Amino acid sequence: MKLETYYIALIGFSVLILAYSRDLTLEPGHLKPFGISKSTQICDEVDKFPQPDVFFGEYVFKKRPLVMRNAAKLSPAFKTWTDDYFLQANEPKNHVVSIETEKKENRQQEVREMPFTEFVSIYNTSGIYMVNPVPTFIRKDIILPCCMQCPFIVEGKLVENIMWFSSGGTKSVVHTDSVDNVNCLYRGEKQFVMVDPDKYRDKVDIDHPEGSYSGVDVDSVDYTKYPGLADVEFYTINITAGDCLFIPYKWIHQVRSFGSNLAVNIWWNHFIPKDVSLESCNKECDLGMTLKSVDFRGFDQVMESVDAIKDHVYALISKLNNCDYPKFLHGLIGDDIKFLEDNKIPYDSLMKEIFKQMDVDNNGSIHEEELDTMEDQRWERVQQVMDQFSQLIKDAESLDNGEFRFKDEL
Ligand SMILES: *[C@@H]1O[C@H](CO)[C@@H](O)[C@H](O)[C@H]1NC(C)=O
Ligand SMILES: *[C@@H]1O[C@H](CO)[C@@H](O)[C@H](O)[C@H]1NC(C)=O
Ligand SMILES: *[C@@H]1O[C@H](CO)[C@@H](O)[C@H](O)[C@H]1NC(C)=O
Repeated sequence: MKLETYYIALIGFSVLILAYSRDLTLEPGHLKPFGISKSTQICDEVDKFPQPDVFFGEYVFKKRPLVMRNAAKLSPAFKTWTDDYFLQANEPKNHVVSIETEKKENRQQEVREMPFTEFVSIYNTSGIYMVNPVPTFIRKDIILPCCMQCPFIVEGKLVENIMWFSSGGTKSVVHTDSVDNVNCLYRGEKQFVMVDPDKYRDKVDIDHPEGSYSGVDVDSVDYTKYPGLADVEFYTINITAGDCLFIPYKWIHQVRSFGSNLAVNIWWNHFIPKDVSLESCNKECDLGMTLKSVDFRGFDQVMESVDAIKDHVYALISKLNNCDYPKFLHGLIGDDIKFLEDNKIPYDSLMKEIFKQMDVDNNGSIHEEELDTMEDQRWERVQQVMDQFSQLIKDAESLDNGEFRFKDEL
C-alpha cells in the first residue's frame, strides 16, 4: 500500500470514529440540575384518591407512578397544621425528633435531635430540616390514604411514615427505596424527578449501593462522570399543597422543595401476593382510619421483612467474593443457631429455600446482579418463607424460650 493511501485511510477512519463518538458535554442537561434531558415522560393524574382496585391493579402492581391531585385535602392536617397549632398542641414538651442540618442532602451530614416544639420555633431561621416519623400526638390528623385502606396492607405491611418539614429549598440525593411510597404534601410545592428503573436501571449509576443512592451532584449533572444520564427519560412532576404522589417500588427519584414545606409519606411492603382480594378494601373511605389507628413496623427490628433480608444479603455480598450457602446462613443467623435448634425450628430448610430463590442461576452462590434482576414471584416466595420463619420464632419466644435476633453485624 502506498503511504498516501495509508494516510487517507487513517484520516477517513478517524473521521468515522469522531462522527460516531458523541460529545456528551454538548447534550442537553450537561452541568444542569438533575432532571433535564431531551425528552420527558408524562405521569398519569387523577383527582382525589382512586378506588383501591384501580390503585393496586393499575399502578402498584404494575409499578407505574400516579399523581393524585387534591387527595391530601381530605385529611384534617391540610387545614389544621399551622405552626401555632403545633406549638399549642397539648404534647409532651420533650417529644424529640431527628433534624438534618443541611438542606442539600448529604448522607454524611450531622443529624441532630431536638424537641419538636423547638424545631417549630426555629426552622424558619436556621436552615434545618425535620425528617422523622409524624409525632404521635398529631397522627390523628392524617387519614390513611383511602386507596390503601385494605386489610392486606393495614395488617402488617405498613413499614414507616415520615414527616418532611422545612422552610423550603431542600434537595435530596438521587436514590431508590425498596418499598412502595405515597407522599402527600400539606404545605408548599415539591418537584419530583423520577426514572423508570425497568427501562433505565443500567443508565443511572447508583454508585453507593450500600445506601441505594447516586453520588451525582443534583445541581450540576456531569455527563463525563455519569454518561448514562444523557440517555434517560425523566418524569418531572410538580405537586402543590393538597396533592399526593405514588412512587413505585425501586423507582429512581430525586426531590426538591419550594416554599415553607410540609409533607408526610407512607412506606409499605411491596411484596404483596398479586392474588389478594381487592374486594376486601374499603370502598367508602374510613375517615377515622388515621396514622394513629394503624401500626407501622419500622425498617429494622427483627428481620421480618424481605427488604431487611435483602439489605443484609447485599451487605453480605459486598463483603464476600463468593456468597455460598454456608456463608449466607452464617451471615444471617450467626450465633443464634442455638436458639433455633433448642426450639426445633427447621431453619436450615427455610433458609435453603430462601437461598434457592436468590440464587437465580442456580450455581451455588448469590451475586448482586442476581438480586437486582430477581423477579417479583421469587421475592413473594422469599416473603412467604420469611413470614413462616418469623411466626415460628414468635411462637417459640411467646413460650418464653428465649429471644431470637438476626445478626446485626455482618
Ligand atoms: C415560618 O414561616 C411560614 C411561612 O412564611 C409561616 O407561615 C410560619 O408561621 C412561620 N413559623 C414561625 C414559627 O415563625
Ligand atoms: C415545576 O416547578 C419548578 C420549580 O418551581 C419550575 O421551575 C417548573 O417550571 C415547574 N414545572 C411545571 C411544569 O410547572
Ligand atoms: C456463579 O455465577 C456468577 C454469575 O452470576 C459468577 O460470577 C460466579 O463466579 C459463579 N460462581 C460459581 C461458584 O460458579
